[in-house]
Amino acid sequence: MDPKPFENERTFAAYRSEGTLDEFHRSFEEAVTEVESELGRSHALLIDGRRVDAEETYTVTSPADQTLEIGQFAAAGADDVDRAVAAARDAFDEWRATHWSERIEIFRRAAALMRNRKFELAATLTLENGKNRTEAMADIDEGIDFLRFYSRELERNDGYEYDTGEPTPGEHCTNALEPFGVFGVIGPFNFPFAIFCGMLSGALLTGNTAVAKPASATSLIAHKAVDILVEAGLPDGVVNLVTGSGGAVGRPLVEHEDVAGVVFTGSRTVGRNIRRTFFDLEKPGPVIAELGGKNPVIVTANADLEKAVSGVTNGAFGYSGQKCSATSRVYVDERVIEEFTDRLVAATEELVIDRPRTAEAFVSPLIDDDALDRYVDICDRARQVGTVRTGGAVVADDGRSGDTGSDGDRSGREKTGRERSGDLPNGRFVEPTVVTGVPHDHELAREEHFVPFVTIHPVSGLDEAIANANDSTYGLCAGLFSEDENEVETWFERIESGMCYVNREQSATTGALVQAQPFGGWKASGTTSKFAGGYWYLPQFLREQSRTVVG
Ligand code: SER
Repeated sequence: MDPKPFENERTFAAYRSEGTLDEFHRSFEEAVTEVESELGRSHALLIDGRRVDAEETYTVTSPADQTLEIGQFAAAGADDVDRAVAAARDAFDEWRATHWSERIEIFRRAAALMRNRKFELAATLTLENGKNRTEAMADIDEGIDFLRFYSRELERNDGYEYDTGEPTPGEHCTNALEPFGVFGVIGPFNFPFAIFCGMLSGALLTGNTAVAKPASATSLIAHKAVDILVEAGLPDGVVNLVTGSGGAVGRPLVEHEDVAGVVFTGSRTVGRNIRRTFFDLEKPGPVIAELGGKNPVIVTANADLEKAVSGVTNGAFGYSGQKCSATSRVYVDERVIEEFTDRLVAATEELVIDRPRTAEAFVSPLIDDDALDRYVDICDRARQVGTVRTGGAVVADDGRSGDTGSDGDRSGREKTGRERSGDLPNGRFVEPTVVTGVPHDHELAREEHFVPFVTIHPVSGLDEAIANANDSTYGLCAGLFSEDENEVETWFERIESGMCYVNREQSATTGALVQAQPFGGWKASGTTSKFAGGYWYLPQFLREQSRTVVG
């Protein structure tokens, strides 16, 4: 066992601290050029170690430029899911019997391969899901962290097998954690490498086999992740990759009689449906789901407003709010709300909207047209009940440029009031939006929207702020800005949230690191109280067995 403490991959921070950011950017640019030259190819399914075409295909384009074709992907159907599950079931006995130390070796090899290719992988993400350079690299770093940390956990726990003694003379007892069988692994578009790799490695390291279904929008990076696992030595059938839509692939996968467990990150509605299916079909294994959030931040009268403004700006608008951890409602003491809001508006207007592949870009495009429509709709409604202090406009999207105002005329209108930072043809770019005057109990301040949109609410003090923050069915991430120790203590005692951050300037609610900040939600934000990247994550993929041998 490696005696050193776990160290996260922190690529960007490492270049920054060594004063070599130029090199980081040069490597990134080279990688983007290289990945671009490989785009537009066809990608088959992976079933039982073989590439298998499906009857239909779908095309993925870049959200930053919809004329840029990322690739053509096999659109699987229920028959393909059947074949993939059969392969995973057939591979299970041998994989579960493979000693955990051998499984770890494969995942450590995979982590090393990923590390060697991190610029290429990050560039792929930038092109495919529109993350800016630092966010794309952080996503790759986190994926590598998951593989390394879970390997380390399996090793630290000796494969989860314990000698439990000889309670009665001659009775030798062991307690072991055993895998369930085939897991469905259903990934999100917003952390399509990190979370996908995290969930997959959780299932596989523990001896389960898997059928993986990535978000369609991020099929290429999923292929690259799985290809690396295969290259590192995963036997045929242990991991199968089945691309396609939620209806055509996700549903039959979850319902399949030979799928024992599901690990899923995505919307609350889909998570609820998966749970319901598992309950109705009396399936033996777990539904391990990370769901949404409506993450509150409190800014007290004792806050350092500079930190608060920075934390909220980054938390709300990093990857354009397309994170379950995004800051989405802010409760500010009425004594400081005016100053805080003015400064937040000013900071928001400074954020650079540009193609994510550029070094300067901060704001990312929205992933699909549904997100764009959702953004337009909530900005429109925000104008009716409150005040849009900044934002509320589509920056560029093939004729959609302009104010999102309710007169229905979005097309062709020149955007005003904000300089466009670059040439953004055909990207789904929208402005980060700050809204005031929306009642705390209004739907806009209660539902998750997954776009760059934050509401600001006045409160009379910490008690009211905590009550409002907790008045939510969600409980994923929460932030506090206060320099008062008593306020910090009170907040920790009362806040109903899995992830809690105080005075976090880099981001009020997002950006958890594996091991140090295990990630998960309370209440309706998840189906499990054991967090990703934490010490109790792996046992969820296992079932206990008590073994007694007499003699
Ligand atoms: N780990 C991410 C964050 O903390 C969310 O999945 O933002």
